[in-house]
Amino acid sequence: MQKYTGKLAVLYQGEGDLSRFQELAERLAVPLYKTISNEISECFFLSWRDDCLKLLDKELLKKGGLVVDIEPRNGEQRSWPAPKQGPLAQALGRKIKTVVDATAGWGQDGLHIFRMGYEVLCIERSPVMVELLQDGLNRLALQDWILKLNLQVPRLINGNAIEILRALEVQPDCIYLDPMFPPKLKKTALAKKSMVVLRDLLGDDHDKDELFNVALNAAGRRVIVKSPDYAEPLGGRPNESYQGKLLRYDVYFKD
Ligand SMILES: C[S@@+](CC[C@H](N)C(=O)[O-])C[C@H]1O[C@@H](n2cnc3c(N)ncnc32)[C@H](O)[C@@H]1O
Repeated sequence: MQKYTGKLAVLYQGEGDLSRFQELAERLAVPLYKTISNEISECFFLSWRDDCLKLLDKELLKKGGLVVDIEPRNGEQRSWPAPKQGPLAQALGRKIKTVVDATAGWGQDGLHIFRMGYEVLCIERSPVMVELLQDGLNRLALQDWILKLNLQVPRLINGNAIEILRALEVQPDCIYLDPMFPPKLKKTALAKKSMVVLRDLLGDDHDKDELFNVALNAAGRRVIVKSPDYAEPLGGRPNESYQGKLLRYDVYFKD
């Protein structure tokens, strides 16, 4: 279990069922606070607000907090399946049906892939991100459009994808990787708050080379790596590469 000692706590401010907060604090082995005082060393907090599990830092305490967003992105068509458009859809190609999002994080890429009609399995090793993402997936499962279309929302497995991919019984067509790369500058003004907080909480993913090699072995047809545009391709020269805004999708074929 990842250690959050001195970094993360659960915060209960009188909203909702206290036992839910206590269980969360126990699962993550972190303290539960009812107020924030100056003596508290933790700088990240998990709390349910408006029925969403939110991640807060001291700056966000009075603002909203960060949640797994289950709404379609700006400009994405609100139909299911959404049209397969844009560089991520191009990277996925035409023959793919099943995708493992092996670095699920906030679930934004995995959910985008799901909304385009692919079957998605998410893997995430950080227990705190798993709590946030599972909360988002639970909310998604209750959305009208999901219920009307009788869709199964993506399944989430908590663990290291390096081990889980090695043990997969059914080979997915595609494995999607978006590990954390060191930032180009210390704190870029352009980086999204959710990603800055994720990096502060979890640090960089130093085993991404091993993850890539395992993914290439485990995928049926292709591996896609999302990289910042300044980073070297993770698996050497890709077979195809699609440019997004400040990022690339590098595609590695299996055959
Ligand atoms: C940059 S974030 C991914 C963001 C995600 N694509 C999104 O759209 O929200 C990277 C995430 O991958 C997870 N991760 C990195 N290496 C992993 C591994 N070997 N197994 C499981 N999760 C991993 C990290 O814990 C982190 O939450």
